[in-house]
Amino acid sequence: MRGVVSLFGFLIFTAESGNGGNQWAFQVPKEVTGEVGKSATLPCWFSSPHSRSHDGALTAIWRVGRPYDGEVVFKCVSSNSSAPCRPTTNYMNKFILLGNPRHNNLSVSIGNLTWGDSTKYYCRVELSPDRHDKYEAKTGTQLHLAAPPRILNMTVGFDGSRGYHAVCVAEGEPVPSLYWADPLDRNQDTRLTGPMLKHQVATELHYLTRDGKYTCVATNSHGRVEASVYFYKFKSGGNNNLPLGLLWAALALKLMLLLGLLCVATCYRNGNKKQRLELHGRAQESTYENYEAGGH
Ligand SMILES: *[C@@H]1O[C@H](CO)[C@@H](O)[C@H](O)[C@H]1NC(C)=O
Ligand SMILES: *[C@@H]1O[C@H](CO)[C@@H](O)[C@H](O)[C@H]1NC(C)=O
Ligand SMILES: *[C@@H]1O[C@H](CO)[C@@H](O)[C@H](O)[C@H]1NC(C)=O
Ligand SMILES: *[C@@H]1O[C@H](CO)[C@@H](O)[C@H](O)[C@H]1NC(C)=O
Repeated sequence: MRGVVSLFGFLIFTAESGNGGNQWAFQVPKEVTGEVGKSATLPCWFSSPHSRSHDGALTAIWRVGRPYDGEVVFKCVSSNSSAPCRPTTNYMNKFILLGNPRHNNLSVSIGNLTWGDSTKYYCRVELSPDRHDKYEAKTGTQLHLAAPPRILNMTVGFDGSRGYHAVCVAEGEPVPSLYWADPLDRNQDTRLTGPMLKHQVATELHYLTRDGKYTCVATNSHGRVEASVYFYKFKSGGNNNLPLGLLWAALALKLMLLLGLLCVATCYRNGNKKQRLELHGRAQESTYENYEAGGH
């Protein structure tokens, strides 16, 4: 048993010794890794000194933050051995009980993972109203989150200090590296902008001097994603009197809609660096705006 325990990195919390037979103990992994937007499984298994299965009421509980008094995020109650464990608490309906608590298994999955879910989780079982039959894993499971890169925002603007400039904002875990490629497909010198939210990064390209396609590329160990804007300023195009900000807000919105659907990791694993990201089978090549800056 001890060999198995250390092999899988499980931590055992022994709450109380039985008399020679099984003891109260929990087996939970020290950490689990999930991906933002997907789901992760939090395993939890316990042993008890009771030799026969428990027929009375059973309550399964998951807390976050701290053992014993952390916030309860999931709780289900089964009134007898033939009744299912009915959830009475389920934070944002993110939890699904996977294990059968009657078979000592309190494993849950947590869905729609967001950055805020990255914390420590503690499982607990209460076998009867008797307070001596309540046990909790003192050592929790840390949920780590990983995320392929996602481009959140691309904007182009004009001001005195930066000239025509393009800004690209991306997020991921690890935080992605970012660069701009200009219309000649040269990797351009860019400046990272300054303090961002955790997991986010932004990069700016200053003094755009050329019409055409500017591509922002974000890469981390989980994938690579790119998105482009078309900049038309120096050649005369249509005569669009929309204010600058509005035009680019519209463009940014279109981009975000597109980006929401991009495949990331799959394309990356295919290994083709120049590969266009597919949008339901079509290449992402549709963000086009005729850029008439400033109206002057
Ligand atoms: C088990 O609990 C359910 C729901 O509370 C109840 O309908 C059922 O009669 C109970 N079964 C037994 C054997 O007590
Ligand atoms: C607990 O239940 C889960 C989900 O059904 C299963 O994958 C896992 O193997 C079970 N663990 C044990 C120790 O039985
Ligand atoms: C995830 O979110 C979607 C939409 O908000 C919802 O329909 C779905 O039930 C959620 N799934 C889980 C496991 O929380
Ligand atoms: C995108 O960037 C623009 C300009 O910096 C900003 O006003 C806007 O709020 C950003 N949008 C999002 C969704 O971050």
